[in-house]
Amino acid sequence: MHTQKTLTYILKSMYKKKFRGRFTESTVFLNDFNSKLGIRRNTFFTLMTMLENKKISTYSIIETGCSRSGMKNISGDGASTYLFDAFLDHYNGDLLSIDIDIDAANHINSSTRHATCKCNDSIAELSITKQKIDCLYLDSLDVDFFDPRQSADHALNEFKAIEKQIDSETIICIDDTPKNHNYLPPWIDEPPKEFGKQVKDIAWPTGKGATLIPYLVSAGYRVVKHEYQAILIKP
Ligand SMILES: C[S@@+](CC[C@H](N)C(=O)[O-])C[C@H]1O[C@@H](n2cnc3c(N)ncnc32)[C@H](O)[C@@H]1O
Repeated sequence: MHTQKTLTYILKSMYKKKFRGRFTESTVFLNDFNSKLGIRRNTFFTLMTMLENKKISTYSIIETGCSRSGMKNISGDGASTYLFDAFLDHYNGDLLSIDIDIDAANHINSSTRHATCKCNDSIAELSITKQKIDCLYLDSLDVDFFDPRQSADHALNEFKAIEKQIDSETIICIDDTPKNHNYLPPWIDEPPKEFGKQVKDIAWPTGKGATLIPYLVSAGYRVVKHEYQAILIKP
């Protein structure tokens, strides 16, 4: 019985591999994600395309900050965990997600097929992570675009904690890091406005990558695409 199940699994995987087509052309991506990704649509499409162009047999993806709201807040948070999970379901591989919130981590562990969410501070967890990384997605400490220092320092320290594991095969994607005021999210103009903050008061660069992007560029990394998210690779 056990052997028959294993055989069925192997045959299904072989069938999937041979006839799967591209993830970015799949109904799962097009119906469940693409049209709902809002300000992240172009960059997530580029990221998924770059990943699938690698044509490797097993992907290893790491993200900091899991999809705490499930798929409910896809246009606000991005639903990265579920997007990566769907990508890995189409191809093959694992997602290591790191989140400091135990409820968010538990929810991910019970609602995804390829993600393991570790409940820890992302910098602490990344510093002990040894696996190869095809994609590093940084999206943990929530950002205040008017004062991004804490969040930006956190992203920089996340990267430094895992830097020795990064090679030219790793695609780095940083969330919530608009290139300029054209890529600010629509909710920036929403209340609360009582603090008197206006878009013109934002000092650039802002966002989670405000210090990390300059750090990477000065280390020779190339910016592949930068809108609300930034994608970089090490040449
Ligand atoms: C913006 S949400 C992540 C959204 C998710 N990537 C998505 O696309 O749906 C940020 C998450 O980072 C987590 N977080 C905040 N500080 C953290 C830290 N120091 N280490 C790990 N996770 C942290 C929060 O608990 C929250 O779930």
